[in-house]
Amino acid sequence: MAETAEDKFQKGLEGVMAAETALCYIDGQAHPTGILRYNGYTIEELCENSTFEEVCYLLWHNELPTKAQLEQFKAQLVANRDLPPEIIKLLASFPKDANPMDVLRSATSCLALFDPDNKDNSAAANERKAFRITARMSTLTTTWHAMRQGLEPVRHNPKHSMAADFMYRLLRKEPDPVEVKAFDVGLILQAEHGFNASTFAGRVTVSTLSDIYSGIVSGIGALKGPLHGGANENVVKMLLKIGEPSKVDSSIKEMLANKERIPGLGHRVYKTMDPRAAVLIKYSKQLGERAHDTKFYEMSTQIQTLMKQLKGFDPNVDFYSASVFYYLKIPTDTFTPVFAISRDAGWLGNFMEQYRDNRLLRPLEKYIGYQERPYMALEKR
Ligand SMILES: CC(C)(COP(=O)(O)OP(=O)(O)OC[C@H]1O[C@@H](n2cnc3c(N)ncnc32)[C@H](O)[C@@H]1OP(=O)(O)O)[C@@H](O)C(=O)NCCC(=O)NCCS
Repeated sequence: MAETAEDKFQKGLEGVMAAETALCYIDGQAHPTGILRYNGYTIEELCENSTFEEVCYLLWHNELPTKAQLEQFKAQLVANRDLPPEIIKLLASFPKDANPMDVLRSATSCLALFDPDNKDNSAAANERKAFRITARMSTLTTTWHAMRQGLEPVRHNPKHSMAADFMYRLLRKEPDPVEVKAFDVGLILQAEHGFNASTFAGRVTVSTLSDIYSGIVSGIGALKGPLHGGANENVVKMLLKIGEPSKVDSSIKEMLANKERIPGLGHRVYKTMDPRAAVLIKYSKQLGERAHDTKFYEMSTQIQTLMKQLKGFDPNVDFYSASVFYYLKIPTDTFTPVFAISRDAGWLGNFMEQYRDNRLLRPLEKYIGYQERPYMALEKR
């Protein structure tokens, strides 16, 4: 019998290929860790030798930049850091206890209104918008953090890289180069990951030929959820709640007995160790040792071992980015905005790719409701 659309139904679109991409290759089965390459370059090599800016260039142009191209690219990002004054006024009107992801989603959407290329969907205009969006999502996050504390936002230093700029303006002091490197690695590792939920949401949006701001806002909305980018915040909340290495075993077993999900563990694509977690674990250890406070690192490795024994799950990127960001003193509710600032690079690369060879993304649904029913007039219901 011929296969029907219903035979192909996959809950959660698991295993379904929705479009082609040249941006990233994932092997979620390889041992001892999975494989992740951006445009052919392993994430390990990129983390060792490149910066987040180089990775943005790679994801938008499918090639690593030359020295001259990189300088020009970085200058464009720096030149676009400032927010329009109307957006600063808008931020000032937000409630001070607003969730930073809600602020980022709402304010990024409003940035479109002040973008001179808002109505131009050409490739050249999209690249100009990509610089503004990337630079300003970072400024939005650091500015909001200052404003919610009643502090004056810090002016940027044009000599700072994206990573250093974020740390300098968020934490209001010149960042330590070792910490900047760890943060930059965090940005590189979260930059791109195929058709994850937020990238897919954004690609669906731009596949209607809507604009890239709309795609980014779709991505931010999808990333916020605890099954996706929101997991990193929940990892720290869990570590704080468990409190002590001696309580890891009983706490995790209790959570599992209560059918709770352990944040940062398991993955739809990796059925082995997420290679991003394998890179971040080293930074978690290094930063913990520098801070003379390895408790979170130790508790994390304990949870990793226990979850492997009990459920066979390995850590994903969120698991160790959580302790890395914690050691960098980033406020917990700002972890997911950091993920968004980083994944923005991949979202934009994906949107450019989608526009170049567009076909409306529109899957089918399996109908499980009533078949035809007799209509009943309102007064008879
Ligand atoms: C990432 C994730 C959503 C992938 O899920 P998925 O491929 O759709 O798998 P499912 O949600 O169908 O889960 C399959 C089973 O594993 C269990 N499971 C998955 N992740 C789990 C976790 N972290 N802790 C405990 N149980 C987990 C589910 O409860 C489910 O069990 P059941 O079949 O008895 O109901 C899932 O692993 C998860 O929720 N992880 C925690 C959140 C997280 O870290 N997200 C960031 C991902 S980068």
